Amino acid sequence: LFPWAQMRLPQNIMPLQYELTVHPNLTTMKFEGSVEIKIQVLKTTQNIILHSSGHNISEVVFTSVVPKQEKPVEILEYKFHDQIAIVAPDALLEGHNYTLKINYSANMSSNYYGFYGVTYEDENKERKYFAATQFEPLAARSAFPCFDEPAFKATFIIKIVREEQYTALSNMPKKSSVQIEGRLVMDEFFESVKMSTYLVAFIVGELKNMTQETNGILVSIYTVPEKIDQATSALDTAVKLLEFYQHYFEIKYPLQKLDLVAIPDVQVAAMENWGLITFQEETLLCDNNTSSVMDRKLVTRVIAHELAHQWFGNLVTMQWWNDLWLNEGFATFMEYFSLSKNFIQLSSYEDFLNVRFKTMKKDSLNSSHPTSSSVQSSEQIEEMFDSLSYFKGASLLLMLKSFLKEDVFQHCLILYLHNHSYASIQSDDLWNSFNEVTKENLDVKTMMKTWTVQSGFPLVTVQKRGKQILVQQERFFLSTTNSGIHPLDSSYLWHIPLSYITSDHKPQEYPYVTLLNKKSDVLNLTEDVQWFKFNVDMTGYYVVHYADPDWEALIKQLQRNISVLSDKDRAGLINNIFELSSLGKVPLKKAFDLIDYLGNETHTAPITEALIQTDLIYNLLEKIGEIELARRTVTRVAKLLQHQIQQQTWTNEGTPSKRELRSILLSFACTHHLENCNTEAMKLFQEWVDSNGTKSLPTDVMSVVFKVGAKTEAGWTFLFEKYGSSESEAERNKILKALASSEDVRKLHWLLKASLDGDIIRSQKLSLITQTVGRSFAGHLLAWDFVKENWNRLVQKFHLGSYTIQSIVADTTHLFSTKTHLSEVQTFFEAQSEATSQLRCVKEAIQIIQLNIQWMEKNLKNLSFWL
Ligand code: BES
Ligand code: ZN
Repeated sequence: LFPWAQMRLPQNIMPLQYELTVHPNLTTMKFEGSVEIKIQVLKTTQNIILHSSGHNISEVVFTSVVPKQEKPVEILEYKFHDQIAIVAPDALLEGHNYTLKINYSANMSSNYYGFYGVTYEDENKERKYFAATQFEPLAARSAFPCFDEPAFKATFIIKIVREEQYTALSNMPKKSSVQIEGRLVMDEFFESVKMSTYLVAFIVGELKNMTQETNGILVSIYTVPEKIDQATSALDTAVKLLEFYQHYFEIKYPLQKLDLVAIPDVQVAAMENWGLITFQEETLLCDNNTSSVMDRKLVTRVIAHELAHQWFGNLVTMQWWNDLWLNEGFATFMEYFSLSKNFIQLSSYEDFLNVRFKTMKKDSLNSSHPTSSSVQSSEQIEEMFDSLSYFKGASLLLMLKSFLKEDVFQHCLILYLHNHSYASIQSDDLWNSFNEVTKENLDVKTMMKTWTVQSGFPLVTVQKRGKQILVQQERFFLSTTNSGIHPLDSSYLWHIPLSYITSDHKPQEYPYVTLLNKKSDVLNLTEDVQWFKFNVDMTGYYVVHYADPDWEALIKQLQRNISVLSDKDRAGLINNIFELSSLGKVPLKKAFDLIDYLGNETHTAPITEALIQTDLIYNLLEKIGEIELARRTVTRVAKLLQHQIQQQTWTNEGTPSKRELRSILLSFACTHHLENCNTEAMKLFQEWVDSNGTKSLPTDVMSVVFKVGAKTEAGWTFLFEKYGSSESEAERNKILKALASSEDVRKLHWLLKASLDGDIIRSQKLSLITQTVGRSFAGHLLAWDFVKENWNRLVQKFHLGSYTIQSIVADTTHLFSTKTHLSEVQTFFEAQSEATSQLRCVKEAIQIIQLNIQWMEKNLKNLSFWL
């Protein structure tokens, strides 16, 4: 009988050091391993429980340290929890040390999780083998027996046996390399710092590198040999950001080296393994001829994110996955923050704004969860990797930073990192560090807990009465019943940093800020004002609703002069009014009235938000066959933006923000056949084809050009061939999106299938394909059918609950708006396993469809009436 029944390991044994040797065979996809774990007994016990999954254990040697003595042990396994028990004949005594040595063999994984192998073709079409690890969250246990929970930090000595043509890398610098037999070499790496198991990593492959030193740290980019030229900008960025973080956190990066490796095929975009960060090729490499400004921004962001983890996550780690946001929310916040400090011209605040809007939408659903939520099962743990942990976490930090001011905020972070280096923490530890600094003035813990422990966010309703403003809060809850606000939600209360500006312009006092910690309150103005705008720059994580005349005043002000409000505020107003119309608080028409000013809009963020809202409406209408109405919606917005569209050139000119706006506007124009967009794009495409794909296209319009080109049979075929031969992931992605936007369902079906098979199109690309196909008229039903038919294989490949599965489910169902589709989606998931039907992404998908149905019932008639 297995002596332990819980998922979580007992607390009576503490691992101190692991010595791990692995010998992979990249062609047979098997490996031999040996791990020696030094442990300390914290509480007398009869057995040791640890994780191990899929290992054939050949030998276990258990030794007490004093007196040095080998003890016979029995070994038991409990597969369901990935656990093994080492049962000793007599008790292991408190305070004593032992070593546990386990020899085993196992299969390398083929699903990008654990110690996995991949194959790829090099430039000469030769098949190559590559092995790498992805342990977060729960897969270290499948590479070696270990105490696989983040709070069990220990040191690691790693040895890799490899064939001589390969390079082996691990978290730490290489200590020695010895020829062992024939063509085999054993690399040994220095002992690591104290760290969690999920951060351990090793890689074996044919690699080249490019290196730069900064304050004694060697920073290297590794790629497959033929792509090393594409590593230059990543290296500069990594060095710059490493310097920035060390300075900002006032803590040195503790290792002597930092490697950033582009893996030829991998599921997650990037992984922050300490000292050995892994990336997809597209998130690390830049190619001068094909990387657009958005591609470069992505690379910069991902590097910034993973480097931030070296402090937030690696140095200071959440005790358990319920607090994943302490890792991911922080890394995400630092991503935007460090870009705003080091790459101002990239305007990363625009992207941050955008994801805040998306996250709030998700957070307003019934299926949402608190930022810190208790988790047990592996699916629940995987599900924590969602946009709430990442982006709500980051948004809350932004709100706090704005409220405390930047220097106080920085001071608090430094204190937190110093207090908890090499240890593991819970949310309260973070807030305690803040309170150490702010205790005289503000109880950050009490304030912030209202945001992390409750799900959702507030809707603040403001109403002017002369010189007074009445403010009230309730949960912003998109309910699928007709009542609007959920009756159970009356108990929700947030401590909201309310900021506002008014037409009575006194710059020195701007913006006004006050903490609303009750259901309602009254604010006193010094004068009666024409208009006022709450949640300045959208730094607060809440939506604001105004009384009718106050909305009117804002709408008028936008038409008169936009510059009294920042672009963030303008984007915020657009977002809020559309979301409020979904909630039934304002008529949809009013939202369209508000964006009537768009012709005068100069900035990217507000236009982007208006187009996202318009496209959503277009897509929903189109899918139920209301094509005429869908067109009229687009026409209304297109007329407003006519000037801006006509002004666009087919070049790479301008600031990054303007270049991004160009991509967005031209893509909108080509999709909806506006102006002569398609003709221009087709002309460029033809020139590109005539040059046999050698003429370089302006990178920011490349996507649009390819999409238009892919509409013809010959264009599609040409692009498809180019997909096979291109050496640039940036180019290949643009091609793939174009291929997937074809209207020929046979082609779409082929793409989906080929990507699931993973030979001609890597499986890593499947979610990109389902995203594109799931949006189009031709493809959305097909994409959903594909998910249904291949559900088991999808789950096998990407595992239940993963980010990829979440996206695939959302992207293939979010445009359904009929009762028939609702019941089809429900029936399908109910017929799957219990774990599947309980997935949060499934509940979310169902709720989105219900809301779409409701939206149609409410708006369809109105829309056709006033449009
Ligand atoms: N720690 C994650 C990687 C990860 C994601 C592990 C999901 C397990 C499950 C990493 O730091 C990360 O967040 N990667 C993101 C990209 C990032 C720039 C937002 C990813 O892979 O999507
Ligand atoms: Zn992360």
